[in-house]
Amino acid sequence: MEQASVADCKHQVVAIDGPVASGKTVVGRALATRLGWRLFDTGIMYRAATWQAQRRGVYLDDGETVTDLIRGSEFRLLPSAGSDAPDLDVYVDNVNATPYLRESAVESGVPTVAAIAGVRLLMVQIQQDQATDGCMIVVGRDIGTVVLPDAPVKIFLDASEEVRARRRAAEQNGGTDEASVLKATQRRDARDRSRETSPLIASPDAITLDTSNLTLGQAIDAAEAIIRERIPNLARVPDAAPAGQG
Ligand code: DC
Repeated sequence: MEQASVADCKHQVVAIDGPVASGKTVVGRALATRLGWRLFDTGIMYRAATWQAQRRGVYLDDGETVTDLIRGSEFRLLPSAGSDAPDLDVYVDNVNATPYLRESAVESGVPTVAAIAGVRLLMVQIQQDQATDGCMIVVGRDIGTVVLPDAPVKIFLDASEEVRARRRAAEQNGGTDEASVLKATQRRDARDRSRETSPLIASPDAITLDTSNLTLGQAIDAAEAIIRERIPNLARVPDAAPAGQG
């Protein structure tokens, strides 16, 4: 297999998939920072589609109307404004939707919208277009299987249900009871894995990285080693986060 050179950004894409709270985004962001790449967290696309449907007053269970609305809306991804983060902001019909994507209405509506096959087809097309420039960490549920099946590096980030629930509970300021977070995690896992279109599964050629017993820093280091093994000669941004923290 031909190996990508430093000059050839086009072939430098890394697909990271995994279940909820497996650390995909935080690991992906650290990797993008270290490599001087962009982070494309594809969950923002489904969140932005949900936000658009909600602000247009479309009933989310009406998949056909939601798909028509999304088909007629313009989605653009631009480097995150006013921050050093490698993230992308998503604009819908020229409005930056990014500040609204973690609101509770979007949070509760997004699994319904992400399960609409017509919406997924449109979103996958945008994601593939966005990734063509390369030098990008692309994070999601179906990146290695559907969006970028030819990605030179595919990582499936995993952790036990208990560990993921504990991390999620800690994110919620430690005030949430772990048992109920565990139940919610199990529900979301079941929904993601049993979804008819693009269920969450590891691509057969993905490397599974189980982070249950790793610190965040160790998980980032391990993922970086996997990438460097497959795409040699990658530069490292000198002042990016040091290894082994967290
Ligand atoms: O990763 P997240 O929580 O931002 O994802 C939001 C929703 O979108 C969640 O229901 C999973 C779904 N999703 C998906 O189906 N496919 C992707 N590539 C990314 C996210």
